[in-house]
Amino acid sequence: MADFKKLISESIKSQISDLTVEEIRALIEVPPNKDMGDYAFPCFKLARIFRKAPNVIAEDLAGKIQPTDDINRVINLGGYVNFFVNKESLAKKVIKQIFNEKENYGKSEFGKGKTVVVEFSSPNIAKPFHIGHVRTTVIGNALSKLYQSQGYNVVKLNHLGDYGTQFGKLIVAYKLWGDKQTVENDPIKELLKLYVRFHDEADSKPEMEDEARSWFTKLENGDPEAIELWQWFRDESLKEFEKVYKLLDIDFDSYAGESFYSDKMPAVIKELEDKNLLVESDGAMIVDLEDSKLPPALIQKRDGSTLYLTRDLASAFYRKKTYDFDKSIYVVGSQQELHFKQVFNVIKKMGYDWYQDMVHVQFGMVALEEGTMSTRKGRVVFLEDVLNQAIDRTREIIEEKNPEAGNIDEVAKAVGVGAVVFQELSNSRIKDYTFSWARTLSFEGETGPYVQYTHARCCAVLRKAGQSVSSDINYELLSDPDAADVLSVLETFNKSIMTAMKKNEPHIVTRFVLDLAQAFNKFYHNSPILVDDADLKAARLALVEATRQTIENTLKLLGMKAPQKM
Ligand code: ARG
Repeated sequence: MADFKKLISESIKSQISDLTVEEIRALIEVPPNKDMGDYAFPCFKLARIFRKAPNVIAEDLAGKIQPTDDINRVINLGGYVNFFVNKESLAKKVIKQIFNEKENYGKSEFGKGKTVVVEFSSPNIAKPFHIGHVRTTVIGNALSKLYQSQGYNVVKLNHLGDYGTQFGKLIVAYKLWGDKQTVENDPIKELLKLYVRFHDEADSKPEMEDEARSWFTKLENGDPEAIELWQWFRDESLKEFEKVYKLLDIDFDSYAGESFYSDKMPAVIKELEDKNLLVESDGAMIVDLEDSKLPPALIQKRDGSTLYLTRDLASAFYRKKTYDFDKSIYVVGSQQELHFKQVFNVIKKMGYDWYQDMVHVQFGMVALEEGTMSTRKGRVVFLEDVLNQAIDRTREIIEEKNPEAGNIDEVAKAVGVGAVVFQELSNSRIKDYTFSWARTLSFEGETGPYVQYTHARCCAVLRKAGQSVSSDINYELLSDPDAADVLSVLETFNKSIMTAMKKNEPHIVTRFVLDLAQAFNKFYHNSPILVDDADLKAARLALVEATRQTIENTLKLLGMKAPQKM
């Protein structure tokens, strides 16, 4: 099977001894448009070695490298040597590989033996699981799958926000106004009501704050009543969160949240002390981070209570010890950028090299059209509502357009949820954006449903053909420009996954699958598939199946379903 980059790197190597085959391979690019060739080797770096203009070097190389059956043209184009791949070889390589590897197409063993910890989602108990959590949840899930696909051992963690003074407030509010049955009927909304009421009333009765603090201290000291209430808030909240995870088909290896680390903080504080890193400032204990040009990290408050940051230090050590990670990823919004810089830099100061293996994968904020989200003011959009509305809307569309479609519930769920997931993944992570119902529920343009529809279209053609599809075809029949475009997108699948993984940017994979769907739909419109000519039909069907398989593999990597009909 032809590995074009390998063939090209070797042919260049035969002309220049100053670079290794690997170095050459790493330099090879894909030209911006197909008329310029399929691969390009830039000669700018060589200019210094050879003391000649890049253009002269490229001209010289292009003249010396002989065309072969697989690479049938080599030209100089403004300082690049451009290579044209034989379309028949391309078809053979891609089709054979996809038919052989099937659901494994795109995968590799690149990360074999290495562990990546991915922390994502991490909602706060007794608080809404709102649209602001959708990005961490969906991006974290996709990243986990991307790493898994390249052979990494992946550990998925949900760092639940289940600790802090707000639980003192909640206990006070519950004891004053709460009712067990009402909470159990609708836990999050009810607990939120209690929390909001606490703040309203505490404005005029400041002694309530003292009471809340004392309940929190009781909780920290293991008071049975406090623990029981807290545990119950946690269990009820988790039940609600799990409804969302079920809709999204997401699971975690651990729900060890902030509370889990509360008894692991003293050891960290002691080590900071032993290493003379802890300094007193206004009665509080801090780590000075001036040398990293960061504000000091607050480790312990004046009253002895610990902080979010202290728990993140404890959790970092616990994760290193428990999973011995090669990489530890935190999928958390960009508002917490400073927080994570401080955590990583404290660990650096403590003398641990593995601070370099921790990555804050951040993303922009989600705002609502009516303004920023505010839990206290009740201005929130629940993620579960978004998903359910997307499902209902999809069901309406199917019932209207294709009332005979079977499995309407299952398809509506796959497509409705897929629309939300794909939208979140296809934006570049870092951009802030405003949530819009209209956009989320629109299936036009570059959306998840469009990709899923392309998959279903492939399935329909294959069903209609009613014959078995094989990779044993006349590859020359797939060398026309439309088919070749589909093939050259298909060929880049693994590369897209690898780039997305290295940059922690799933949108590179959504871009890949949109390009594939577009190229395929163009081919589909221009090239009748179920034709009389048996050879041509077999060749085109093989391309349909290769596309179908690749879209299915991609959607699964993104955490989406690939229904066969819609
Ligand atoms: N619970 C936090 C929130 O909802 C996110 C937790 C982020 N993870 C961490 N290790 N600090 O904002």
